[in-house]
Amino acid sequence: MIIESAKRVSQVKPYFFAKLGDTIEVLKKSGKDIIRLDIGSPDLPPKDFIIEALVDAARRPDMHGYGQSGGSDSLRKAFASYYARRFGIDLDPDRELVGLIGSKEGLFNLSQVILNKGDWVLMPDPGYPVYGVGAVITRAKPYYMPLLAENDFLPDLEAIPTEIANKARLMWLNYPNNPTGAVAPYDFFEKVVAFAKRNEIIIAHDAPYVDVCFDNYEAPSILQVPSAKEVAIEFNSLSKTYNMAGWRVGVAAGNREIVCLLRVYKSQLDSSHFKPIMEAAKAALLGDQSWIAERNMVYQKRRDIIVSTLRELDFDFEVPKASLYVWARIPSPYVDSIAFCDELLHATGVSITPGELYGPSGAGYVRISLVTPEGILEEAMCRLKKWMRGN
Ligand SMILES: Cc1ncc(COP(=O)(O)O)c(C=O)c1O
Repeated sequence: MIIESAKRVSQVKPYFFAKLGDTIEVLKKSGKDIIRLDIGSPDLPPKDFIIEALVDAARRPDMHGYGQSGGSDSLRKAFASYYARRFGIDLDPDRELVGLIGSKEGLFNLSQVILNKGDWVLMPDPGYPVYGVGAVITRAKPYYMPLLAENDFLPDLEAIPTEIANKARLMWLNYPNNPTGAVAPYDFFEKVVAFAKRNEIIIAHDAPYVDVCFDNYEAPSILQVPSAKEVAIEFNSLSKTYNMAGWRVGVAAGNREIVCLLRVYKSQLDSSHFKPIMEAAKAALLGDQSWIAERNMVYQKRRDIIVSTLRELDFDFEVPKASLYVWARIPSPYVDSIAFCDELLHATGVSITPGELYGPSGAGYVRISLVTPEGILEEAMCRLKKWMRGN
């Protein structure tokens, strides 16, 4: 029997990092020493008190049944406290917050609950691939908003044709941004909210890097704009803020109708988190926050190691104020960043990500992540220098 995929998933290609992982396994087996600067998974653990909360809860007999889909009442309250403390935003835990099994789950499911075939979706280019997959599966039509260096990697709202703006149903945004490392000032969010209201567009702001900031920068939330809740839903996550990527805890916050749609949909799909994980997430959100600034200093030092190497090698880039990435244009005579990354990997074992992966405007760029300890990062930068100078 020949088994074919359903038509709606036939355009979904394997995730780039899954394929890259296979290539890297083959190289490792052949004896190559690999340094991965391609992924954005934090290498440091969460603070001890968070792990202890997990272990303590796991010992309790009442913690092993199904959890509440959309997160326990107390987890949603903890997210509300986080938003109040961090951004001064008041959110109703029952109606304006829904817990997610990692924010990626919510990003995908948002498309499922609001998009119909033929709907226009405004999408950042480059952008996190899940926004596009959600559009493909729902047969919505993407309109790409180029994120260009000359616009500080913010979309140019004026450049969106009026007929597209009128028809569009959803706009994706993501600041601090993956892959460009760019940040959005508060007044950009004000403009976006006004634009969305004028054109009746839902804004989905994906903000998992909002607490990974350097040089005393503090990233804003779109929900700080007074009337943002009328049009916006913000996705946040414990993955990067608390070094808890594998724990799969995220949240969608803001517009009540969208929160309600996600809650109903999820109630049919998943049976929530392991309860001890929700206990630990509460500990992370409500407990000591001072270690976050210390952790960000670790990333900042790593960023500076990369920055000084890229300067020596004539890459063109902005020093990122936030996120886990340095986004840089490869210097001439190199043009093709896919070939650049592939040759670098095979010659030196250093794996970085080609910008095209995130969309056509990423051509000519590479993304280097900060989730590798200093010593290994220095070694990777030495290999990069030696390889480029020997070419
Ligand atoms: C822009 C962006 N959004 C969402 C996610 C997913 O985060 P989570 O671990 O909460 O699913 C990532 C992960 O790298 C990301 O870079």
